[in-house]
Amino acid sequence: MGSTSDGDGASGSQWALILGASSGTGAAIAEAVARRPGLDVFGVHRGRYAESAARMKETVREAGRRAELWQADASTPESAEAGVEALRRVAGPRSVKLFVHSIAGASVGHFLSQGEDRLHSRRIRRTFDTMAHSFVYWAQALVAADLLAPEARLLGLQNPLDETHLSNTGLISASKAALEMYVRYLAMELGPLGHRVNLLKFGTVMTPALRHVYSPEALARLETMHSRMNPAGRMCTLDEVARFVTVLAGEDAAWFNGATIDFTGGMTLKLLDLVLNP
Ligand SMILES: NC(=O)c1ccc[n+]([C@@H]2O[C@H](COP(=O)([O-])OP(=O)(O)OC[C@H]3O[C@@H](n4cnc5c(N)ncnc54)[C@H](OP(=O)(O)O)[C@@H]3O)[C@@H](O)[C@H]2O)c1
Repeated sequence: MGSTSDGDGASGSQWALILGASSGTGAAIAEAVARRPGLDVFGVHRGRYAESAARMKETVREAGRRAELWQADASTPESAEAGVEALRRVAGPRSVKLFVHSIAGASVGHFLSQGEDRLHSRRIRRTFDTMAHSFVYWAQALVAADLLAPEARLLGLQNPLDETHLSNTGLISASKAALEMYVRYLAMELGPLGHRVNLLKFGTVMTPALRHVYSPEALARLETMHSRMNPAGRMCTLDEVARFVTVLAGEDAAWFNGATIDFTGGMTLKLLDLVLNP
């Protein structure tokens, strides 16, 4: 476990710690923040997306920044401590400007199902560890190691499933609700130290997580439906989300704290219209 090499840690540069940096949203954010505001990247992943991890690393380096990948299951307090220790070895003290929680590892199913998709206790624990509790574990480890830079930004990611029901995603929504509360309470605890903790809510974007869950036909339908749902008439892109994170990492976003920032582009506004006036 752990693929970093010891660095000098004294370059004076600032870092983005990104959980889930090898794919989808996390990889796009890593590449974007390397360009602006120009952060080095410490990315955590389990190694299932070796190609896109290598691509992300290359892009970050092309932007003139360092990229270190740490391979581990990020969902436990032990891995948070080990990962932060690995980060401490390559980064300088108080150098983590941005922490983004972008891991997707959740069970779908139904709570009362008697079949294979039953959301039994192990799935519930695992989903909450991955999607919610790990945000706290890593925040605790960063503070304990005194790695947060002045006015650091901590960011969780949310989807619009807190506003609307989607058959088998109840456990995801429950864990995201916990994440939202963690964000608010950490904002209260870290605010006096100058740090900011927020939740960025955005609509569906095409990532490997989605391609894993849906068939090509279902994906095509998803795209069509989103074009009808979103006032902009198309799906949001990963690039749009990632570029907005560069804004959140900047000076002008410093007053956001404890917020759930709605970047859904009005994705759920037309649901009733679509049902009643198809
Ligand atoms: N996609 C969307 O439409 C959308 C919309 C709104 C919000 N979001 C949120 O954005 C976040 C990222 O989703 P995504 O769609 O970008 O997912 P994704 O493309 O599947 O990427 C997930 C990343 O997390 C890593 N990962 C998963 N479980 C891990 C674990 N236990 N430990 C370490 N790394 C782990 C994956 O690599 P390994 O599997 O190799 O570990 C991968 O790098 C999620 O919180 C999701 O809820 C997504």
